[in-house]
Amino acid sequence: MENLRIDSITRKKKIKLFVNGKEITAYKGETVLAALIAAGYKSLKQNPVNQDPRGALCGMGVCFECTVTIDGIPNVRSCMTEAQDMMEIEINDSRQQ
Ligand code: FES
Repeated sequence: MENLRIDSITRKKKIKLFVNGKEITAYKGETVLAALIAAGYKSLKQNPVNQDPRGALCGMGVCFECTVTIDGIPNVRSCMTEAQDMMEIEINDSRQQ
């Protein structure tokens, strides 16, 4: 996956997250959603009817389109959750397994 971060921006401490078992880089202070998008994850789940990709819409806690499983807790809004070192995130999009 491509890294979408702007290299010239100063960030806090580098941390690791695991997305469906794959390691990605995040930085203290980022939301889980920001880390996922920066790592190239745009689709976070699939439409249950036609399997179309679904992803974050509002980025501010309103739409619930960004929900993922974090450390075993399902339906957590990734846009409202600060990334913590060694978090395990599960995306429910079978095309990104
Ligand atoms: S992107 Fe809308 S609630 Fe997270």
